[in-house]
Amino acid sequence: MNDLLIKNTTTFFTATFGNAPDKIVLSPGRINIIGEHIDYNDGYVLPAAIDKIICFTFDKNNSNTANIHAIDLNESVVIDVTKEEVVTDIVWTNYLRGVLFQLKLKGYEIGGFNCAFSSTIPTGSGLSSSAALECGFLFGINEMFSLNIKPVDIALMGQSAEHWVGINCGIMDQFSSVMGLENKVIKIDCRTLEYTYHDANFADYSLVLFDSNVKHSLFTSEYNNRRIECHEGLAIIKENYPEINSFRDCDISHLTNLKSKMTDNVYKRSLYAVKEIKRVTQACEALDIGDIATLGKLMFETHEGLSEDYEVSCAELDFIVALAKDEKDIIGSRLMGGGFGGCAITLVKKGSETAVIEKFTKLYVDAFNIDLKIYNVKISNGTSLYKNN
Ligand code: GLA
Repeated sequence: MNDLLIKNTTTFFTATFGNAPDKIVLSPGRINIIGEHIDYNDGYVLPAAIDKIICFTFDKNNSNTANIHAIDLNESVVIDVTKEEVVTDIVWTNYLRGVLFQLKLKGYEIGGFNCAFSSTIPTGSGLSSSAALECGFLFGINEMFSLNIKPVDIALMGQSAEHWVGINCGIMDQFSSVMGLENKVIKIDCRTLEYTYHDANFADYSLVLFDSNVKHSLFTSEYNNRRIECHEGLAIIKENYPEINSFRDCDISHLTNLKSKMTDNVYKRSLYAVKEIKRVTQACEALDIGDIATLGKLMFETHEGLSEDYEVSCAELDFIVALAKDEKDIIGSRLMGGGFGGCAITLVKKGSETAVIEKFTKLYVDAFNIDLKIYNVKISNGTSLYKNN
């Protein structure tokens, strides 16, 4: 599937700009096994890059102009790379403008270039198409203009680009898109950015993504609100326990002692963060020893926390996870990514995938009159150069 994507993107570039691209960059989306909404809370996360990708084609054009085509949208934009960027109404261009803004901010000098890109990452499904866009674009510019930006800094600049667009995200998506490795999940310590790779071996279970096919419009404002609420919670904890610097150093007892000093929401968000940080460590240990039952149980617990305490789920995702809980051939399931729609990442017994998918698809459409979408993903390498002339 990606061979066709690469071929079509290259053909488009050549037909549009009159020469073959000099650089082809592949930039993946990501899944996350566990560790949701804690990358910005000094937690650990356990994501992986996947084989759904954006293919970028590039060449320098000896001008000051970037001519960029979003093939799937049939839209293009012309940007003067010497000018200061501003956020515009055309959303997809903002992620790219955000990258150019970061380059300028950090003093990198670039010239004009031509670029065309096309994607197999569904948007709004919690698979981080925006991180793939930012990081793949920056990776290509880095290659074309030999800027020597290191991979982790590509991820950090991608994250800053996303902040510039207006989502105050953590580092998980950009880091996993850039640093992914085939068949490995990455345990990232989001406080220090230290990371370790772990075998993505789910024994008798397959990873299946059930896409609720809903995208609730609350995402950006509610996401940013959660960060503010967690910040408030931590400030109250620090005030009362000066030795504590982060949710990572907290126990549930610290929180229960402070419950009366927090609003109900701030208490619930903080409680979720403290519990989720502990779950990731347990989940990673379980994965390492092939204890998929424990991993699955923790995934269900995460969903419950995201739904009840963090309140970032929705009726459709709760429905899918409730079905999963009742299904003997499923060992774990939870909403993945920022929430308010998108996918439930689910571990389904090998051999029963088809039967489970058929059953869920029918029950879901009966309940919501919405088609459930299914993705089978392979854990793959991070952002990379496909061809270097
Ligand atoms: C979005 C953000 C990430 C992370 C997840 C939730 O994908 O971009 O930084 O916070 O939500 O875990």
